[in-house]
Amino acid sequence: MLLNLKDIILLLHPILACTFVFPVIGIVSYFAWQTRQRRLREGAESKKIPPTVGREHVQLGNLLTAGVVGITLVAYAYSVIFGFQGFLMQASEGNLDWLRVGLVALMFAVTIASLVFLYQAHNRIWRGVFATLTGIGIVVLGFQPGVFRRDDEWYVSHFYYGIVASLLMIFALAIVQDIYQDRTQTWRRVHIALNTVALILFLGQGITGTRDLLEIPLSWQAPAIYQCNFDSNSPDFKTCP
Ligand code: HEM
Ligand code: HEM
Repeated sequence: MLLNLKDIILLLHPILACTFVFPVIGIVSYFAWQTRQRRLREGAESKKIPPTVGREHVQLGNLLTAGVVGITLVAYAYSVIFGFQGFLMQASEGNLDWLRVGLVALMFAVTIASLVFLYQAHNRIWRGVFATLTGIGIVVLGFQPGVFRRDDEWYVSHFYYGIVASLLMIFALAIVQDIYQDRTQTWRRVHIALNTVALILFLGQGITGTRDLLEIPLSWQAPAIYQCNFDSNSPDFKTCP
């Protein structure tokens, strides 16, 4: 087999995105559209839409938040260990800081626990607290060494799109009760606007993710590939020895 264990672990995140997260995005969007059409009674067909579509949108929305935050954490776990300047590279250079390893592991645990508590919290303040903690975890872990952010081309960065999409999913989960309780429909409008953006970001994730996958060499080919010239200011840009 051409893949080493490291390559297989790298594939876990794209596999989960393609087989689980993207199908769920499709179903959530379908029910979102039905919920809206039913509420506004748009079109002759809308009278046939069952009253359960709103609840089904939310149930699958819950699953979507878990899925998106989950695959983001899977990507981080790979990157902080195997990524450029990640733990393995730090260890081979003799400057691995075990305190940092411990803190990162703790941060993973706190982020997952906060999300679990967010699902259970009913009180508004606690929902705010756990959503904030989950979001902080997603951001802090994202800025650890090893995570590839594409800072110089942030506008086409899989990392920045992904982090914003993850935060939007956490926010959607946090305001579910507000959407239902708000008579003025303000939270509903906020939700629609933000999650339309999220939908566009998900499209971007499909594009930037497949691009990144194409750019990353197989682990045993990497030593040869990284001798090539990646510096766009150099006259030998895009050439290999
Ligand atoms: C791609 C992601 C999503 C999109 C595009 C989306 C979009 C929408 C739309 C268009 C509506 C109908 C609004 C209306 O009545 O006019 C809606 C309702 C709602 N959404 Fe989402 N949403 C998404 C994800 C989520 C998530 C992750 C959650 C929470 C976990 C969520 C919770 C809700 C709730 C509570 C409602 C009100 C449902 C009802 O009236 O029964 N949504 N959403
Ligand atoms: C909802 C969809 C997705 C989200 C929220 C998401 C999020 C992320 C995040 C936050 C990272 C962290 C960057 C890093 O660890 O270096 C990442 C890495 C990665 N993702 Fe995704 N992703 C999604 C879909 C995809 C898809 C569909 C593919 C490919 C088919 C993909 C391929 C990758 C690859 C190869 C990496 C590691 C390499 C890199 O850092 O660029 N992702 N993803």
